[in-house]
Formats: sequence, structure tokens, C-alpha cells
Amino acid sequence: MIRLNRRVASLKASSTMAAEMRARELKAAGQDVISLAAGEPDFDTPQRIKHAALQALERGQTKYTPSSGTVELKEAIRLKLARSAGLDYPVAQIMASAGGKQAACNVIATLFDEGDEVILPTPIWVSFAAMVQLSGAEPKALPTEQSDGFLLDPQALGRAITARTRGIVINSPCNPTGAVYPAKRLAALARVFLEAELWVVCDDAYADIVYDLPEPHLFAVEPRLAQRGVVVNTFSKSYAMTGWRLGFAAGPREVIAAAARLQGQNSGNPCSITQAAGIEALTGPQDDVAAMVAEFRRRRDLVARRVRELPGFRLPEVPAGAFYVFPEVSQLLGRTFRGTKISDGDALAGLILEEARVAVVGGNDFGAANHIRLSYAAPLSELEEAFDRIGRLTAQILG
Ligand SMILES: Cc1ncc(COP(=O)(O)O)c(C=O)c1O
Repeated sequence: MIRLNRRVASLKASSTMAAEMRARELKAAGQDVISLAAGEPDFDTPQRIKHAALQALERGQTKYTPSSGTVELKEAIRLKLARSAGLDYPVAQIMASAGGKQAACNVIATLFDEGDEVILPTPIWVSFAAMVQLSGAEPKALPTEQSDGFLLDPQALGRAITARTRGIVINSPCNPTGAVYPAKRLAALARVFLEAELWVVCDDAYADIVYDLPEPHLFAVEPRLAQRGVVVNTFSKSYAMTGWRLGFAAGPREVIAAAARLQGQNSGNPCSITQAAGIEALTGPQDDVAAMVAEFRRRRDLVARRVRELPGFRLPEVPAGAFYVFPEVSQLLGRTFRGTKISDGDALAGLILEEARVAVVGGNDFGAANHIRLSYAAPLSELEEAFDRIGRLTAQILG
């Protein structure tokens, strides 16, 4: 066996990506599969953004840029952070990356080291644990309760902090739960973060996709945290730009400069054409974002109702953001159906794909094995059909 780097060898493949790729394979083989697995909007990238990319190509913007992105893009990001979150970052404290994933990974690699613990309130996006492991630090799952809206409890956090705890990741709205932190909870958590001198990585990937009145940003609730925290964000979700690969980070000057040096060595600048498109995304009219959110809201309402009607599924709260639901499915677990033991959410997800031809993601890698994640980045008609199929299956499972 070839000896690989220990940290890389221990990496698991992303389970969300794997579920989506399996659904695509089955579709390509002619199977009638509906995918509710993907973490990507089904909408096309708005025309104005594509047009800006074409213009950049025509102008010959095909060369290297500064590895942290062009000044024009970083200026557009600066304005976006001020406009949407009330945060004030000079351009020198902003870095553009090839996706939110790269921004988060480079920031986590920059902040944390061997011997550190980083708290991940679970359920949480599958990639954070891998990113923390790659940094050499240890991910520490801290479960939240569905009965508490999947929000981190400040007292539980206080109890979980040890002498080694150096940081925490906060993702609001949350992938996979759709939970949005209210201002009051943010203020209570901020006190604990400051007291314990934690570094806070604030992942705002879904901040534009909220269905109630927007809540303030954590660093606006407690501005002192901006000295000990980094914002990471992406163009993927708000602008339906998953394939373009563009994201960004903003934080203290020293941290961003170091993360940009890392990026300069491991990949260099995000695609120059994508950067031009990103400027248009942020500075152009935002009606397309509003239209997508309105459509997601219609789907969220339908999906929440249909999930609650499914035999064996529990969804006490209607998610306030992102485009996922994360119901609890314990009632279906421990049973055997057509020779398959439904041991956990992953096993149920496998059965739903095989028997009902709907791709969903099991909750195990999100840190919640009694749940499954369903994305509603699919047209209403497909959603209706998917729930009909899952409903027939779960009724059979429960006999
Ligand atoms: C919570 C969260 N953060 C960051 C990302 C990164 O997205 P991208 O790398 O496409 O910018 C995702 C994508 O699924 C996500 O769900």
C-alpha cells in the first residue's frame, strides 16, 4: 500500500457530493430519479452575470490576477458586506477564493493548528470537520437539539470549552437544518465566544436566502468579535453560480494576509473571468436574487407541509432559511425492509434512492444519524412527485 499523508489519507469523500453524483449516474443510465440531494440552486445563473463574463473574455481578461482577487472585485465585496450585514472591512481585509469551500478551508488552515480543538455545532455542513482535520486541529462535535430549533445553547457551549478549544464555526442559516440564529441567541453566544477568546468562523453561505425578517449578523451584534472572527461566503447559492467557483473571506488583516499567502501558493487567484462575473453579481440589480428567494419560499412551504405528512418523519419547525429540510426519522429506523436493515439515516437514504428513486442525503456526516436532508432546489412538480414516492415507501416500511 502506498504511504499517503496521514491527514489526506483520513479524508472521507463528501457525502453530499457522492449522493448527487450517484443520482446523476442513475439518470444517465436512463433511470427516472428525482434528486433532492444537491446543495445547489436549480436556477440558471442570471443572464446579466453571464454577459459580464462574456465581456471579460472579449476584453482579454484571461490572465493571472492578484491571488486574493482583483481590487474591483474586493471593492464590490466590501460594499456587499456593508450593505447586507452592516460590516465594515477595508479591501485589504478581504480575499476572494475559488468558492466558499476554498475560502473556508484556507481560513481554517490559517487559524488552527495541531493541539487545538474547534467546536462544530452539529448538525453542520459535512466539509467543516474535514477542513479542521486538514489543519491538524481536532473537530469537536457539539450537538444542538431539534427541540431548541437546532440552535447552539450558550450554556452547553460553556461546558464544552476546554483549555485546548481555540475556535468555533457558526453557519446561519444552517446547512442542513435551515435554522437561522435570532439576535438574542447571537448576543448570548457572543458573550461566551469573547470570554473564552475563541476564533469564530462565520459561514454566511445562505445569508441571502431567508424567509422571515433578516436577523442581524453575529459581528454586527457584537462588533468586538470582528477582531476574533472571519466571515466566509460564496456566490454559489445567492447567484446560482456553483460551477463558477467564487467565494470570499473577510477578517483581521493579519489573518487574511496569511490566508492569501497560503492561497497564493496552493492555487493562486480564482478564475479571472469568474471574478468579472462576480462584480456584476454583487453590483448589478438584485431582482434575480429576490425572485429566486420567492420561489424557494413557495417550495419551502410545500415541502414543510409534505414532510410533516410523511409517515415516520418529524419536522417540528419550518426552517427559516437556506433550501433544505432536515427531518428526524427515528420511527423508521431499526426496521428491516425487503432484507435491508434501516440502521440509520444513511441506510434510509439508500433505501429511498433504491426503492423510491429519490436521491436524498443521510444525516450521518452532518453529525445527526437519525435524520435525512432533503434539498428543495427542484421545481414544485418534481417535489410533489418526490413526496408521493417517499410517502408510498415509508407507509410500506411502517406496514
Ligand atoms: C454551509 C456551506 N458553506 C460553504 C459552502 C461552499 O460552497 P461553494 O464552495 O460552492 O462556494 C457550502 C456548499 O454547499 C455550504 O453548504
